[in-house]
Amino acid sequence: MKTILAPSILSADFGRLAEAVLALEAADCDWIHLDVMDGSFVPPITFGAQAVAALRSLSRKPFDCHLMIEHPETQIEAFKEAGVDRLTIHAEVCPHLHRVLQQIRESGMSAGVAINPGTPAAAVRDVLESADLVLVMTVNPGWGGQKFLHGCLEKVRQVREWAPNHHVEVDGGVGVETARLAVEAGADVVVAGSYTFSGEPAERLAALRRAVCEASAS
Ligand code: DX5
Ligand code: ZN
Repeated sequence: MKTILAPSILSADFGRLAEAVLALEAADCDWIHLDVMDGSFVPPITFGAQAVAALRSLSRKPFDCHLMIEHPETQIEAFKEAGVDRLTIHAEVCPHLHRVLQQIRESGMSAGVAINPGTPAAAVRDVLESADLVLVMTVNPGWGGQKFLHGCLEKVRQVREWAPNHHVEVDGGVGVETARLAVEAGADVVVAGSYTFSGEPAERLAALRRAVCEASAS
């Protein structure tokens, strides 16, 4: 399985997000990861569907949108209209998780379900039939640049065993070394924010590509 690289613009200069998306469009990466935060589920507020829509015309790559918000069911249509391809919601905020995942699919987007480091893998087991992707957070959501939590790798292994054909995405603290570990544990999508933007994105992503290729070949 080819590993999907999904750089996040969270660590880009927010005054120059268009340039960041254009840099990713030209680089060797597969999806563009967009972190939407509401100031409630997580303390920071980032951007919403209107900003995503404004970035859409700058790239042909799939937009992988990670909603760290409460009441995600109220935002499905707005993100669909903004041109998002994959919409991921958090299990922790959603008492009707199965239904909301179905609503995402019915709108024409792929549906993802995310779990925090403190949430067991079992939280997604009964909704796998309604999801295309499981996002295993490897930091507590809200900020870029945190340290990868190695204890979460066991959940990656578990989810991969339950869901051999789903995308299993890791997000948080991913760099060359931790991407390798995540791929070895069964992840096929790696998100990288501060790693990508702490240097020249194209060079950083080329190094990440080499690392994940080695890991999936071994
Ligand atoms: C964190 C976000 C991540 C963030 C990761 O809550 O969900 O997508 O961009 O940043 P790094 O890669 O710096 O840990
Ligand atoms: Zn994210």
